[in-house]
Amino acid sequence: MEIAKSKSPGELLNWDDINKMKYSWNVACEVMRIAPPLQGGFREAINDFIFNGFSIPKGWKLYWSANSTHKNPEYFPEPEKFDPSRFEGNGPAPYTFVPFGGGPRMCPGKEYARLEILVFMHNLVKRFKWQKLIPDEKIIVDPLPIPAKNLPIPSESLLQVPPPSWSIKRTSEGSSPILLGGSSLQQISGKNSMYIFFFFLNMFLVP
Ligand code: HEM
Repeated sequence: MEIAKSKSPGELLNWDDINKMKYSWNVACEVMRIAPPLQGGFREAINDFIFNGFSIPKGWKLYWSANSTHKNPEYFPEPEKFDPSRFEGNGPAPYTFVPFGGGPRMCPGKEYARLEILVFMHNLVKRFKWQKLIPDEKIIVDPLPIPAKNLPIPSESLLQVPPPSWSIKRTSEGSSPILLGGSSLQQISGKNSMYIFFFFLNMFLVP
């Protein structure tokens, strides 16, 4: 909120601002923990090894799943609870929070995604007033997590200048346009951020 308040209408974010937006990034991380945009991926064993008592021969294909740690109470107590403070301080143990994968094939777009997400959240807060039409809209996974009814939201721009076209609606074959808006960081920090994030993800990953 500090960054949002410090900017006059239309003033752009700079790199320092992005790096100060720690709470917003914690919110985005908590969304990706509860509903990872990608569910997992395949790896090929390059050697025989034993894992948890299971013998894995060289050449086998293995599937790693983000939810096996994201929803494990041993690593994330009360895993169904939305709590961005999990990412404060040192944050989760290594390789337990893996929305971008891990190891040498980890997503190379992670930092770019962080930049996009934070800029998107900032503009949503600064530029729009909005409310959800369906309060408890379900998230479906197909194969990316998206709001089941495409997140219908009546919006009102807070600025005279029109928002960038990418931030006002997404349309794709067979789906209705989504209208959006933003009100306050308090609202965006709660469960609503889940929907906002998926809205963002849809624009980002579905051209
Ligand atoms: C929220 C946004 C994103 C998420 C959640 C995400 C997630 C992932 C995950 C889970 C993987 C597999 C990593 C692994 O196997 O360990 C991956 C791979 C990859 N991602 Fe992303 N990604 C995102 C955005 C991006 C962006 C913005 C780019 C490019 C600008 C990108 C480019 C790639 C590429 C090229 C790979 C393949 C890497 C390899 O196999 O060596 N991703 N991503």
